[in-house]
Amino acid sequence: MAEKNMEQIVAHCKNTGFIFPGSEIYGGLANSWDYGPLGIELKNNIKKIWWEKFVQNRENSYGIDCAILMNPRVWEASGHVASFSDPLVDCKECKARFRADNLISDFSNHSVNPDLMTREEMSKYLEENHVPCPLCKKSNFTPIREFNLLFQTHRGVTKESQQDIYLRPETAQGEYVNFLNVQRTMRAKVPFGIGQIGKAFRNEITPGNFTFRQIEFEQMEYQFFCHEGEDEKYYQEFKQKSKEFFMALGIPENKLKFHDHDKLAFYAKAACDVYYEFPFGWDEVNGIHNRTNYDLTRHQEYSGKSMQYLDPVTNEKFIPYVIENSYGLDRAILAVICNSYDREKLPDGEEREIMRIIPRLAPFKVAVLPLIKKDLAEKAHELFADLAKDFRTTYDETGSIGKRYRRQDQIGTPLCVTVDYDTLNDNCVTVRDRDTMEQIRLPISELKAHIKSIIE
Ligand code: GAP
Repeated sequence: MAEKNMEQIVAHCKNTGFIFPGSEIYGGLANSWDYGPLGIELKNNIKKIWWEKFVQNRENSYGIDCAILMNPRVWEASGHVASFSDPLVDCKECKARFRADNLISDFSNHSVNPDLMTREEMSKYLEENHVPCPLCKKSNFTPIREFNLLFQTHRGVTKESQQDIYLRPETAQGEYVNFLNVQRTMRAKVPFGIGQIGKAFRNEITPGNFTFRQIEFEQMEYQFFCHEGEDEKYYQEFKQKSKEFFMALGIPENKLKFHDHDKLAFYAKAACDVYYEFPFGWDEVNGIHNRTNYDLTRHQEYSGKSMQYLDPVTNEKFIPYVIENSYGLDRAILAVICNSYDREKLPDGEEREIMRIIPRLAPFKVAVLPLIKKDLAEKAHELFADLAKDFRTTYDETGSIGKRYRRQDQIGTPLCVTVDYDTLNDNCVTVRDRDTMEQIRLPISELKAHIKSIIE
């Protein structure tokens, strides 16, 4: 396995149609990216696995899809208006901007935890240790300033009647404000969960490491409402589940680790992230939080509406505890891409680029390739139309068969099916495996079952 390098991965994603720079022809927009034809397939496949694991396969689990724009009081209640900010510093020499906490963590090789520091302590650390600017290497920073990450917009016709509203910075609040709507309409009994996948927006102005930190991204969040006293049991259960989820995406366990938070928000009982080892270092892909009954209590306070649940058996009225499971979809995609991209030396000395994506996540499950376009395209098109009813299939008739195999390896297609002259007589095709490059001959009538077995 070749050493992974972000530049190569970014170029590969762009050249093969996974991910393009956002609004590229206008020079792009910092920290914004577009998913291409392959990226969107991968994204949808990951969403499906997450939805199955959290919403579909659990009893007492429900999905919702809430508005991105919410009443601004929501964000006052959640605390985002007052304190959703990053500590930023500017390099006075080269004018680049950084998060002070990231500078400290990188400089100390993660031996110092800036989460445990006050802003004053961070400033002192930068100064006393002469922490250098990662770009110009000088050590001359401005004092730390708080920068709120909320994206503000306005609604209303005239300037005077306009109301300031926000693009949601997380999907979780939609689940909290709908807690009783879901509970009542689904006749749900605590404990139960609400899942949602959707866009979130943050005004991230520091460098993003490709899609790792974006201004617009997707979250897959699952809030589990439970009785106080059962919270710790469920927290542990969901913590284990989070690693299982990433392993179900084909990521090996040794590339994942838990990062328990040393410093908790005043209302939180426990918090932990899962870290994945990206080529740029270990970093967060999700978070599991025991948020107590803080969020629902705050919404009760700010909305004036009761958020209490009435237990039909005990007649007890209470505000449930919440175990929050917050997954960044784009970070899961990036982890899968980084994990599966490889360059491999072949026995004949050639090098091939390969994406070893697990078949369930592969953008295309199968490629149909006529050996020669002239006489075999009609049969191959026929086969494509039939396979496409059941599997995401691609068709390629351009270039030598060897080059076409390489193109499919590059984008992670697990199987290539070649239609040759013999196919016209015996109705059999050659099926080539991406990883082993082995080829077998199969009757077309057995092809779908074979593809299915590979995916499953
Ligand atoms: N509701 C809790 C919450 O939003 P968070 O740790 O701020 O918690 C959860 O975000 C997850 O969302 C992160 O673990 C990460 O995967 C993803 N995420 C956060 N900010 C992101 C960004 N700017 N770009 C891409 N993904 C991001």
